[in-house]
Amino acid sequence: MKDKKTFYISTPIYYPSDKLHIGHTYSTVQADAISRYKRLRGYDTFFLTGTDEHGQKIEDKAKEAGVTPKEYVDRIVDGIKDLWKLMNISNDKFIRTTDEYHEKAVQYIFNKMYEKGDIYKGEYEGLYCKPCEAFWTDTQAADGLCPDCGRPVIKAKEEAYFFRLSKYADRLLDYYAAHPGFIEPAHRETEMVNNFIKPGLQDLCISRSTFKWGIPVPINPDHVIYVWLDALTNYITALGYGSQDDSLFRKFWPADVHLIGKDITRFHTVYWPAFLMSLDVPLPEKVYCHGWVLLEGGKMSKSKGNVVDPVTLAERYGVDPLRYYLLREIAFGSDGVFSNENLINRINSDLANDLGNLVSRTVAMVQKYFDGTLPAQREQGEFDDDLRAVCAKSKEEAEKYLDNLYFSESLSAIWRFISRTNKYIDETAPWALAKDEGSRARLAGVMYNLCESIRIISVFIAPFMPETSVKIREQLGLGPVSSWDECAVFGSEETFTVVKGDIIFPRLDPEKELEELASLNKAPSNPLKEEIEGIAKIGIDDFGKVDLRVAQIKSCVPVKKAKKLLELTLDDGTGEDRTVASGIAQYYTPDELIGKKVILVSNLKPAVLCGVESRGMILAADASDGGVKVIFVDGVNPGTKVR
Ligand code: MSP
Repeated sequence: MKDKKTFYISTPIYYPSDKLHIGHTYSTVQADAISRYKRLRGYDTFFLTGTDEHGQKIEDKAKEAGVTPKEYVDRIVDGIKDLWKLMNISNDKFIRTTDEYHEKAVQYIFNKMYEKGDIYKGEYEGLYCKPCEAFWTDTQAADGLCPDCGRPVIKAKEEAYFFRLSKYADRLLDYYAAHPGFIEPAHRETEMVNNFIKPGLQDLCISRSTFKWGIPVPINPDHVIYVWLDALTNYITALGYGSQDDSLFRKFWPADVHLIGKDITRFHTVYWPAFLMSLDVPLPEKVYCHGWVLLEGGKMSKSKGNVVDPVTLAERYGVDPLRYYLLREIAFGSDGVFSNENLINRINSDLANDLGNLVSRTVAMVQKYFDGTLPAQREQGEFDDDLRAVCAKSKEEAEKYLDNLYFSESLSAIWRFISRTNKYIDETAPWALAKDEGSRARLAGVMYNLCESIRIISVFIAPFMPETSVKIREQLGLGPVSSWDECAVFGSEETFTVVKGDIIFPRLDPEKELEELASLNKAPSNPLKEEIEGIAKIGIDDFGKVDLRVAQIKSCVPVKKAKKLLELTLDDGTGEDRTVASGIAQYYTPDELIGKKVILVSNLKPAVLCGVESRGMILAADASDGGVKVIFVDGVNPGTKVR
């Protein structure tokens, strides 16, 4: 039984294939807010995030970029880590599915399921694109065409390993029934039961042999483990499950919350629990499926005129305003629409007007009326009780909502107290009290209540906007919040000595901002120039490492079982034949190539491609008609160096 004072939360692990946008940031910021809250409440907290790095898509993208899949993901993962640092994400661990300990543990898990009889070898049937050597699902190739190259797909079969998902259907239904709240919001559970489980669960294909970039199946290395078994198990391998040291697993598992986007509900509430049942591991307490950040009219896409890059937005407006916006704008489990206009309005009204002004007015008045330090003699008066009552109610509501991951509702409760405090200034009119010497004690009482309210607000907002909480407290002469209990008692601070600071949230000019954001979002005027400028520069020494030679094609034959490849025999001037496999079969017949002189990268490390040992590669370029053109040369002897 795990210790009650621990808390384990995870985000999904992100694909390092596309640039992360504010939708992805939304998932992580939510997990961060709840982690910070739990830590303040004294929980020993473990917050996990990471990257999901295997699969065909990554393999293809790496090939396109001319690097190995690992080199490809390494570059992108660094950017994702930087984004989380920028967003002030306090994760305790960052797991990569290419981490060695994870790969080993996934193989251990596969073996365990296999030994239990939950994995068997069968045939995977799908829609296959021969030239791309890729399987597609019915939805992916709905029009009967390959989504990648547009050629017709055919029904095909391949040998694969399957997980006996069907065996777990009844146990899953029983589990849901016995654990209300396991899936939240509840309508997601209904969706899973009615759309997936009741119509009949199919066994799940968990291996592939058409690509290589994955964790090898331990009992058959011709196959790699299909990504969802690899990906989902990160939640336990990160804690050391299946390794020598599983102390974290024993301490933190079962997870308190897997926080996920609604699109991956099935994987987390059907497949993952069934995998855990197969491993005899207890299920997580809760899978919380949040809604999506959408743009007006649909999904995220740059063309819609809104900046969705979290780095651009955070650098322009600050990290906390962006965190606040994401957590406030989307209600529990629903989708929310992002627009530049909404963001600017929220910053101006909630942050600059309501919160920022409250702090700067209060600090300025304490300085003006009391030289910065409040006297001990203070008088209570009208409106004070109501201020305290609203504070207590906001606290109760903010906690209740936050405990249940209702971030937006929790912030609304906090803002009710901020509004009440602003109203208190209008009601008590300190500027009028200041004019009357006889009202000094009441004025001190009013200013104390204002400072005390702001102090409590700084605790309330600490999980959501950690930097702002620190900045506000500095102005009240206080250090960072160390415990949620600091908001328990209104009146616990003896006195305040304020320190004037910078304006916390400068007001934005909406018209100007919208124009600026629109211009930031314009398509580049010269995309090719931008692309070339964006490529890392190399020195002449780096270029010198590539040995380019003229070579003549002596013979050329198709490679069996590889529709894209031709096997070329080259005269490279050395007097010995050189074999090169080249992916140009769709664009040239052997007759068109034999006798031609080409440019050879002669010192490329040999690689075996579909059974052919290829020693080097020949240069070619994408043609304007969508084909590929090999670079031919004339009047130069084989073996001549190209410089
Ligand atoms: N790699 C899988 C998850 C494996 S978890 C074992 C994956 N990755 S993802 O990068 O595509 O998505 C990561 C998370 O971001 C998912 O929870 C997804 O729902 C979320 N979001 C992606 N776009 C989103 C929005 N526009 N809005 C909110 N969340 C969104 O899925």
